[in-house]
Amino acid sequence: MNVKSIFPASCGLRGAITIPGDKSISHRSVMLGAISKGTTEITGFLNGADCLSTIACFQSMGIEIEAIPSTASSNPLTSSTASSGRILVHGKGLHGLSAPSKTLNTGNSGTTTRLLSGILSGQRFSSLLSGDASLNTRPMKRIMTPLNAMGAHIESLNGNGCAPLLINPGSLHGINYTSSVASAQVKSAILLAGLYANDPVSVTEPSLSRDHTERMLQSFGASLSSRTFPDGQATATILPCQELYGQEIAIPGDISSAAYFIAAALLVPDSELLIKNVGINPTRAGFLAVCKAMGADLTYLNQNITGGEEHSDILVRSSQLYATTIEGSLIPTLIDELPILAVMAAHAEGTTIIRDAAELKVKETNRIDTITTNLHAMGCDITPTEDGMIIEGGHRITKAPLHPAVISSFLDHRIAMAFSIAALLAKKTAAQTQEQSATQILESQCIDVSYPNFFSTLESCF
Ligand code: S3P
Repeated sequence: MNVKSIFPASCGLRGAITIPGDKSISHRSVMLGAISKGTTEITGFLNGADCLSTIACFQSMGIEIEAIPSTASSNPLTSSTASSGRILVHGKGLHGLSAPSKTLNTGNSGTTTRLLSGILSGQRFSSLLSGDASLNTRPMKRIMTPLNAMGAHIESLNGNGCAPLLINPGSLHGINYTSSVASAQVKSAILLAGLYANDPVSVTEPSLSRDHTERMLQSFGASLSSRTFPDGQATATILPCQELYGQEIAIPGDISSAAYFIAAALLVPDSELLIKNVGINPTRAGFLAVCKAMGADLTYLNQNITGGEEHSDILVRSSQLYATTIEGSLIPTLIDELPILAVMAAHAEGTTIIRDAAELKVKETNRIDTITTNLHAMGCDITPTEDGMIIEGGHRITKAPLHPAVISSFLDHRIAMAFSIAALLAKKTAAQTQEQSATQILESQCIDVSYPNFFSTLESCF
């Protein structure tokens, strides 16, 4: 088991860092590239384990995917230490995938499993999808129900609504589906299946979730429209498609990964850190809005749009933070950042409330539980609720700092990274020994699914 020891920061974070490519966009660029005609050239691809699972699945279906190493020693498809790479996907068109000879292994990746199920629903061959132990407990009924209603034949092999999923050929027709959850994975699975349907397919969600699929489908040539209503509901509609066409895609840095460094620079005194080329698509930027509401000193530099996605450098300076309430339509725009926001809340003056976030329970772990367990272990007063948590802040302001602890990652990358940042702020109590002055992050290797170079980047900031 990998255990990472993290000592409290003895100085501020300084300098400039580049964040690896956006995970959501990386998955989608390979998927759309594979089912398009011609070659898709991707720069800034995230070489985390999740995105490599997506690549491996498409290679098993006959798609040639080439890695162009940025240095002679780092092959982006095999090196676990490479952070970002250039990839060529030689697409075979909408109907060019071939039947895989073995089970498609989706690893720890919910995005691979759900989006791929949408694409596989439209194929003329059968396929079997399965992931690791955690993935195979995550809910798949949320995609099976709409896809089967479109005419797909997806079966949960263990009858528990989870993977392994057997997908048999079906012919797909249009649907107007209303999803009870604001989930980009559900929306995307339906829209991708819609490429293979004989009439328009619409999906409505309670509030707008990340819209990378919609943006990228349009740039590959699909006819798609999106609308957000005054009550916050959002509908995306895709028309039947003849063919998609390969594109050049430049992937910005992942705001979900940048969030750990933004939090660290805000919280550790005397920090001034420049984070380059961060994706700030408004459907992903809720974290930045909450930082601002908490009093963060953030400056946006070099804002631009590339390939339909907004990005910016962000200059972060240490700031006194204040408590806030995080709720409603903001939640889908920062769902993956809630673990690090909880750590920030512990250091903000006042009581922070997170609500409307029941989706936290069905991520890589039940994050309401795993955040609560670990913040408790470090001495924070936190109360879990049915759809969020209440965090009593003020550590390092009116209360003692959090203290070092043994932190279980529960094999959840975002829990491991969030508590690595908490560790920078922890100070041993009088009762703790010198050996206990470092926080131990257990099974820290789980970070590789989204950020293989996380610790070396963190070390480079000091
Ligand atoms: C993702 C969507 C989100 C997010 C996940 C990636 C995506 O999940 O939590 O890490 O790439 O579509 P949900 O859409 O299920 O909320």
